[in-house]
Amino acid sequence: MLHIPSLADIPSDIPEPSVLVPTMGALHDGHATLIRAAREIAGESGSVLVSIFLNPLQFDRPDDLADYPRTLETDLALCRDLGANAVFTPSSTEFYSADHSVVVRETLLSRNLCGATRPGHFEGVCTVVLKLFQVLRPTAAVFGKKDYQQLAIIRRLVRDLSLPVNIHGIETVRDPDGLALSSRNLTLNQKHRADASRIHRALLAARDLRETGEQRSEVYLQAARHHLLHDAPTGLKIDYLELVDRENLQLLPKVAGPALLAAAVYYDDVRLIDNVEI
Ligand code: PAF
Repeated sequence: MLHIPSLADIPSDIPEPSVLVPTMGALHDGHATLIRAAREIAGESGSVLVSIFLNPLQFDRPDDLADYPRTLETDLALCRDLGANAVFTPSSTEFYSADHSVVVRETLLSRNLCGATRPGHFEGVCTVVLKLFQVLRPTAAVFGKKDYQQLAIIRRLVRDLSLPVNIHGIETVRDPDGLALSSRNLTLNQKHRADASRIHRALLAARDLRETGEQRSEVYLQAARHHLLHDAPTGLKIDYLELVDRENLQLLPKVAGPALLAAAVYYDDVRLIDNVEI
């Protein structure tokens, strides 16, 4: 496996198809699933590229960036074990010029959900993803559906800027109790980790209303809110809970077509997200 620590070390002859798995490190089984999916797409003669870059531009809170887990050595070992061909780990001082002044802003899909509560987040995501595509020139890239809004926005980025990259969305990987895998799970205290499966349970309980023919969004949201807050431990706070159209991510008053029920929940300072399709 080739370790590429700097832009200057990127080879010009990466065998295609080349499939990028962009990450911020602290890799877990969810990332392992993305890397395996990338190998399926690339085939044995193609290349699987993993980027590990804790992108400062997409953090709206300096303490969140400071607390984000950093596990580079074990991340590199996992990539090697999973058969990645190359891992790109640029420094942020090299990746962003000190006086960088150009960003990429999506203006519709980023209005709600994480876009509403994390100002500038998707600008940071779009900017870093475009830069990664530029420097690594992958033919395809994989993203997890846990970050559903991110995936939808990146599909728009690719469509609207005519980028020659195929985007693949991969199903969310969960712990046995239902908690969606996330690097942030590592930073939960024991009590909050034991409780955190309630997020998925709350979304599923609301989704079950579909079987009754219920269409009013408010009823779905009330059900999910009830399950999120009932007997909740101290420190739990809902950041958002929204029902949106699955294509354009705009708020839905009624569930009549493909919808997404999505939540972000704080356990003290640790913010977790999850979603279910309805
Ligand atoms: O999902 C993530 O880990 C990040 O948002 C990404 C796509 C690697 C961009 O920094």
